[in-house]
Amino acid sequence: MNQITLQDTRKADYYYSEALKTLRSNIQFLGAEYKTILFTSCYPNEGKSDITFSLARELGAIGKKTLLLDADIRKSTLRTRYGVTEDVKGLSEYLSGQASVAELLYETNYPNMHIAFAGRSAPNPSGLLGSQTFKSLFEALRDVYSYILIDTPPIGTVIDAAVVAQFVDGAVLVIESDAVSYRVAQRAMEQLRMSNCPVIGGVLNKVDTRKDKYYTHYYNKYGYYYKKK
Ligand SMILES: Nc1ncnc2c1ncn2[C@@H]1O[C@H](COP(=O)(O)OP(=O)(O)OP(=O)(O)O)[C@@H](O)[C@H]1O
Ligand SMILES: [Mg+2]
Repeated sequence: MNQITLQDTRKADYYYSEALKTLRSNIQFLGAEYKTILFTSCYPNEGKSDITFSLARELGAIGKKTLLLDADIRKSTLRTRYGVTEDVKGLSEYLSGQASVAELLYETNYPNMHIAFAGRSAPNPSGLLGSQTFKSLFEALRDVYSYILIDTPPIGTVIDAAVVAQFVDGAVLVIESDAVSYRVAQRAMEQLRMSNCPVIGGVLNKVDTRKDKYYTHYYNKYGYYYKKK
């Protein structure tokens, strides 16, 4: 398998990493039938990519073989954010027959964490993501990994997450604190359910601790809630 080195330049944050460990533990308690988990949000920039990356690393750190699958073919930030300068192959190339599975999957410098990049932006992301090829890829990878975390574009903006949702075991909605109305969040959950995808929980991200005493106490800038269906 190909190898890639990812560089996380973010400063370590005690509260952030504690909240992630709790999220990891909540995911584990869902049981083994929740293996392929999609992360989406209502709007751009709510923190999906950040969370999927960090959670994949945390799961790997406890010995769970985990794949971070970047399904944001429209606007992937993963490569640049983690300092990848190589010309890597990704999902768009795989789904359009320009790369093999072996070329799609990369071992990373983090234990048990593998990554599949989004690939070059393609003119028809939702067509590629809705294909039988994508479905078959999931079926094949299920047997290889303990967890597959899928990063997607915001479900309130483009159709892609709803398309991917039909192939996964569950979805997590990332919600930026104070940025999303109840009604908009409900609509996103409804869209996921219409794809036959159970919403297994939510992550309340970017909590302003100066305003919210509860979170100041426990989670600093990274709060969460999580519940099964
Ligand atoms: N808990 C957090 N606290 C502070 N900043 C955060 C937090 N989570 C993410 N960010 C910042 O918010 C920005 C958006 O994060 P990220 O790219 O993960 O969002 P996204 O939902 O994947 O966006 P997109 O919809 O564009 O894919 C980044 O600059 C990231 O560093
Ligand atoms: Mg993103």
